[in-house]
Amino acid sequence: MLNVAVFASGRGSNFRAILDNIDRGEIKARISIIISNRSDAGIFNIAQDRNIPYRHINPSDYTTEKDYCSEVLSLLDECSVGLIVLAGYLKKIPSEIITQYRNRIMNIHPALLPAFGGQGMYGMKVHQAVVEYGAKVTGVTVHFVDEEYDHGPIILQEPIGVDDDDTPELLAEKVLSVEHRVYSRAIKLFAEDRLSIDGRRVYVKNNKGK
Ligand code: GRF
Repeated sequence: MLNVAVFASGRGSNFRAILDNIDRGEIKARISIIISNRSDAGIFNIAQDRNIPYRHINPSDYTTEKDYCSEVLSLLDECSVGLIVLAGYLKKIPSEIITQYRNRIMNIHPALLPAFGGQGMYGMKVHQAVVEYGAKVTGVTVHFVDEEYDHGPIILQEPIGVDDDDTPELLAEKVLSVEHRVYSRAIKLFAEDRLSIDGRRVYVKNNKGK
């Protein structure tokens, strides 16, 4: 069974959707640890309700990045984590952790990368930028995490039309409901070992292994 670590900084609605899909038997995985840099993250309430282990680990509380990395890496090791899922995690993952978990860290971005991504592009800022730019299409991107912001190999994308009367808030709602479905799909594919990676390209095998 795949052990998943979820890193989050906020409310955790993606996490809740993933958990529901695990409960339904759609995703063959277990959430073995939740890590947040914020002690007041909403996701901790869900973790408490559901009896899932969680830890508040804030990189700024460590004297060096190395100390922070060894704390996180030993926790991940203890929990035999096979996949790290970033769900609204606002801190950059240090390269030491990326190297150890290469192509085993996923992130979701609420736009179609490489548009409207990169450092500082998170939350409502993304939807504001999409509306201000006048883009007709936005969407959802799930990708593996590499050393650059919003840059690693793309696993799944789904477009969403921008309507004339869409505000950033309306768009955020539409995008979030698609995120919940697409993120679970990507984790399911990973758990079933149906993703293969060649450079930047991620191939999805069908359920017959082809
Ligand atoms: C989502 O919009 C996700 O795309 C972004 O952060 C938000 C997290 O929302 N990376 P939630 O905490 O899962 O509700």
